[in-house]
This record gives sequence, C-alpha cells and structure tokens, in this order.
Amino acid sequence: MNEDKKLRVFSGVQPSGNLHLGNYLGAISQWVNMQEKYNCIFCVVDYHAITVKQDPEILRKKIIEIAKIYLASGIDLENSIIFQQSDIKEHTELAWILNTVARISDLNKMTQFKDKADGNQENVSVGLYDYPVLMAADIILYNTDVVPVGEDQLQHVELARDLAKRFNHNFDKVLRVPKAEIRKEGARIMGLDDPTKKMSKSATSELNYIALTDDPDKAAKKIMKASTDSDMEVKYDKEKKPGISNLLTIYSLLAGKEIKELEKEYSGKGYGDFKKGLAEVVKKFLIDFQEKYNAISDDEVKKLLKSGAEKIQPIAEDTILRVKKVIGVK
Ligand code: TYM
Repeated sequence: MNEDKKLRVFSGVQPSGNLHLGNYLGAISQWVNMQEKYNCIFCVVDYHAITVKQDPEILRKKIIEIAKIYLASGIDLENSIIFQQSDIKEHTELAWILNTVARISDLNKMTQFKDKADGNQENVSVGLYDYPVLMAADIILYNTDVVPVGEDQLQHVELARDLAKRFNHNFDKVLRVPKAEIRKEGARIMGLDDPTKKMSKSATSELNYIALTDDPDKAAKKIMKASTDSDMEVKYDKEKKPGISNLLTIYSLLAGKEIKELEKEYSGKGYGDFKKGLAEVVKKFLIDFQEKYNAISDDEVKKLLKSGAEKIQPIAEDTILRVKKVIGVK
C-alpha cells in the first residue's frame, strides 16, 4: 500500500516500573498486529515518567528496556518507527500551547490523576496533573488517526480528541482529530492477587503482575498463586468470577485459543489443572520473549532510537509551524 495513504498510528509506554502482561496484551501486542495496515510510530514516553520521582540511573536503563521490549514483541522497523519522547522538543512545545486551550475542568475529570495522587492531590507535581495535555501533544504532533491503548488510557485519548477539536474551532482547522482503539479482550488485564483492580506497574505486591522480564519459573509460580473464585468451574463470568475470567483472558490471548475452547478443554477438571496449563503457556511465552529481548544490545537500541527521532523530526516541526502560524506567534 502507498505509505501516504495509510492512516497514522501513535502510541507509547512510560519507562517506569516493570512492564507486565497487561501492558503487553492491552497495548503492545495490539500494535504488532497493526503494523502492516498503518503507518506506525511508537514512543518511549520518558517525560511522562518524570511526573513522579525517578532515580536518574534507573530511568536511563528503563528507557532502553522499553525500546527492547518493543522490538522483542515484534515491532518491526521496516514498518514502524520507535523513538524517545525527550529527543523531540516539539512535544513539550505543543503541550504548552495546548495548555492554553485545556481547561482546569477537563483535567479535574481525569480519574488516573486522582488514583495516582491517592488522596494527596495538593502535594503531587503539577506535571502529574497536566500529564494528559502532554499526552495529547504526543498524539496530535504526528497527525495521528488511531491510538491503540488499554482501557485505562481511553479518557486521556478522549481529551486529546477534545483539545484538537477545540483548537481547530478556536483558530483554524490545522490539527487532525485522533481516536482511540481498544481491543475487545485484554484491554483491562486485572491483578493476579486482586482481580477487581487492574494489573499495575506500580503495584506494591509482586504477585499482582507478571513482568515481561520475570524469571519464567517464578512467573509460573505466580500463576499458581493467583487469586480465584470459590467454586471450581472453569467458566468465563466477569462479574461473578473475576479471577478465573481474567486468567481465561490471559490464556486465550497468549495461546491464541478462544475462551469457549478453553472452557471445554478444562470442563470438569478444576482450577488446579487449568492453572498448571496456563503456567506452562506463560512460561513458554516468557522464554521465547526473553530470548529475543536478550539478543538486542543496548548500543543497537540507542542507535535505533536516535535514527527513529531523525525520521519523524520533520513531521513534528511541520505541525508546530502550522500551529504557531494560526495562533499568531509566527
Ligand atoms: P502506561 O505506560 O501506563 O501503559 C502502557 C500501555 O499499557 C496499557 N495498560 C494495560 N492494558 C491492559 N491491562 C492493563 N492492566 C494495563 N495496564 C496498562 C495502557 O493502557 C497503555 O496503553 N499515558 C500513557 C502513555 C502515553 C501514551 C501517549 C499512550 C503517553 N503518551 C500517547 C498513547 C499515546 C501511559 O501511562 O501508559
């Protein structure tokens, strides 16, 4: 297909905490499947990570780790571009301009800020509060059509949509209005220790998530310890049986089998056998994944990120110039 005719996809992951199966199944694995059809840009969003305190040495390592995870997951640089957010200064420039269009009432609606602030809203950074505007800038800067994310980011993509529309209305129609894309299954993978809350990078217990860099045997043990519901029937019922339903979703996506098929396979067998089966699937997935991950060197990744930034710099410059002209500073 002609490159220019393809719609643009943009998405990103923060280099903080441990990337887990939720990030992989909800976002990255979805990106991998979009590469043929779309013109894809995937970003390591480092300026988002610093909205909460980071250790600079660890942050430097995490940036490389995220890029390696993209590549090991199957992001193919023949079709897609990967880069580091802070390499393109237009992200923060556009965020500032969009700040003048965003309203306090928009940001007050953002549930993730409230969750992250954890009841201490007066003492978290202004950056954490304003983070959805930077995310809108990330998306809008590249004339993005489609933003594949997990369910928790839906509200932020909606804000990006609203800001693009409001900007176009206030000035001139120079911004493309993006839309989110969410998978039917896997958009919200739940915590293994508490299936009523989403699997999270910042969870206090390691039993909450399977990190992509977890030792495969350790990960298998986490599956065996995962919280399940009181009866023993392997059946999908999100409301009444959130634990087993979450495990069925993970199993189905990793093994490429329908949930119905798995229910049949484990009918009359109980949770023990089911968990053993899933533990094997997770173990195999991690062994394959980590083999690819370990084959990529840090230096190679640094070069790829730099060359990705060089490729997309002109798109960012072009958008900023259009924006500056219509607001009257150029
Ligand atoms: P982040 O780094 O928290 O998460 C990265 C991606 O993983 C998805 N995700 C999940 N999906 C399913 N189940 C879960 N338990 C789960 N946890 C996380 C997230 O929805 C996300 O798609 N603000 C963003 C990063 C960002 C961004 C952007 C994304 C910055 N700029 C522009 C898209 C476009 C974030 O913090 O994601």
